[in-house]
Amino acid sequence: MTIPQNIDRLRSLKEKARLGGGEARIKQQHAKGKLTARERIDLLLDEGSFQELDMLVQHRSRDFGLEKQKFFGDGVITGYGRIDGRLVYVFSQDFTVLGGSLSEAYGAKICKIMDMAMKNGAPVIGLNDSGGARIQEGVVSLGAYADIFLRNTLASGVVPQISAILGPCAGGAVYSPAITDFIFMVKHTSYMFVTGPNVVKTVTHEDVTFEELGGAETHATKSGVAHFLAENEIACLKNLRRLLSFLPANNCEEPPRKICTDDINRQDEALNTLVPENPNKPYDIKEVILRIVDDGDFMEVHEHYATNIVVGFARLNGKPVGIVANQPASLAGVLDIDSSLKGGRFVRFCDAFNIPLVTFVDVPGFLPGTEQEWRGIIKHGAKLLYAFCEATVPKVTVITRKAYGGAYDVMSSKHIRGDLNYAWPSAEIAVMGPQGAVEIIFKKELEQAADPQTATAAKVQEFREKFANPYIAAERGYVDDVIEPAQTRPQLIAALRMLENKVDYNPKKKHGNIPL
Ligand code: HXC
Repeated sequence: MTIPQNIDRLRSLKEKARLGGGEARIKQQHAKGKLTARERIDLLLDEGSFQELDMLVQHRSRDFGLEKQKFFGDGVITGYGRIDGRLVYVFSQDFTVLGGSLSEAYGAKICKIMDMAMKNGAPVIGLNDSGGARIQEGVVSLGAYADIFLRNTLASGVVPQISAILGPCAGGAVYSPAITDFIFMVKHTSYMFVTGPNVVKTVTHEDVTFEELGGAETHATKSGVAHFLAENEIACLKNLRRLLSFLPANNCEEPPRKICTDDINRQDEALNTLVPENPNKPYDIKEVILRIVDDGDFMEVHEHYATNIVVGFARLNGKPVGIVANQPASLAGVLDIDSSLKGGRFVRFCDAFNIPLVTFVDVPGFLPGTEQEWRGIIKHGAKLLYAFCEATVPKVTVITRKAYGGAYDVMSSKHIRGDLNYAWPSAEIAVMGPQGAVEIIFKKELEQAADPQTATAAKVQEFREKFANPYIAAERGYVDDVIEPAQTRPQLIAALRMLENKVDYNPKKKHGNIPL
């Protein structure tokens, strides 16, 4: 049977569009160790679920020879599809077309799916691989970026927005991913910076490579810009699918529940001896988390950044929870600027998307020193405090050991609307640790003592017995119960079930003024 001419034309147009910048450019893309924009979409979405939009869009620019460089789709593939059967919107930048650079038409394609995502309440996933603003289009391209930034901001807290950086992402272009909720990067093939190595050399005379300045490891460890680090694109996209399994489609939905096959009454005797008797000895809070959550399945966010706090997603009785935990195995679990920012942002994400918070506390306090004070630990620490205070999702807290000073208040204490707060018998809840406390309140007495060292040791012991335990807080109702560590899982599950229909509000306002 002969194919009607109009069908033949359509097929050939679409075939052309599917080739993006052409075979040679696709080869170059592969040679760089990168997948094409379409291959990425195929890996990201459920098989056969992608529905492309605007495949035949072209730019209308006539400057600098662009009129002769026209490609169907204009360098970005947009549309919708499914991940584990759930609707998502996707754009995938095609570096094979004019370096994936962003034009007016290209920006409008992205805005179109963002608007649909907002109307229909589903996440937006951006796969970034672009040379930035299409230089030949000038300010029109800058305007297109701004159109996207505005939508990123308006969508923030309404639908999850996730960015994967799979190639260059430079200049002002970084600010779209930066406003989104999570950034994935891939080792050796992705980079992000506001100004590249050449500009850096001119302005500051520093010699720095692309990788050092803005590679995946840099952003996953030093700047905290990247939340997830992957060895390659396949692992990255698989991890992105995993992240979505914890998230609701929008801020009006509950996070998706899985059937729980892990015993909800499971007790773990090992937890009873996990905290060392010596309060100065570290232990790994991640072991605590893994022993408590369903199937030991914990998706850590910012694994390599500000490791003195641990944040991530897990499930209890099949329901997603956001976990925030001080990490005694890193800087003794102290709160500093980076860990406050990391924790604060995570808490706000969970609160925006109805994900209950489970907080494990073992914190000696805020980090002292000029470096921290001069960089603003006051305003940055306040962000974590503010985030916990304003969060209205169910909040359950477990104090495993130290809860000292302001950090006790900050870490989802009862006073700032923690719903159920538990302590393990190893908990120490006081204004400060015994040594520091004794040196202040018995200063004169100890100076005059015949043997100051023995006198100090005796006072420290007295203070420890009196204050370094959970029972004074329990007497006041500042913790709802002191529990055996082994029973933490069933206790948390019962608490979260009790809180399932929790309703709490903040006063009506335009928005608060978080100390930025
Ligand atoms: C138009 C671009 C382009 C751009 C790359 N190309 N970037 N075309 N506008 N921004 C084209 C190149 O001319 C080339 O076309 C093709 O894409 C592939 O680029 P290469 O340079 O050959 O690739 P590679 O060697 O891998 O280098 C990638 C790169 C480099 C590092 C990204 O292309 C680059 O430096 N591009 C410019 C980056 C930049 O300064 N962008 C503006 C940033 S400011 P041909 O046909 O010759 O192969 C910005 C502002 C956003 O984005 C503002 C928002 C507020």
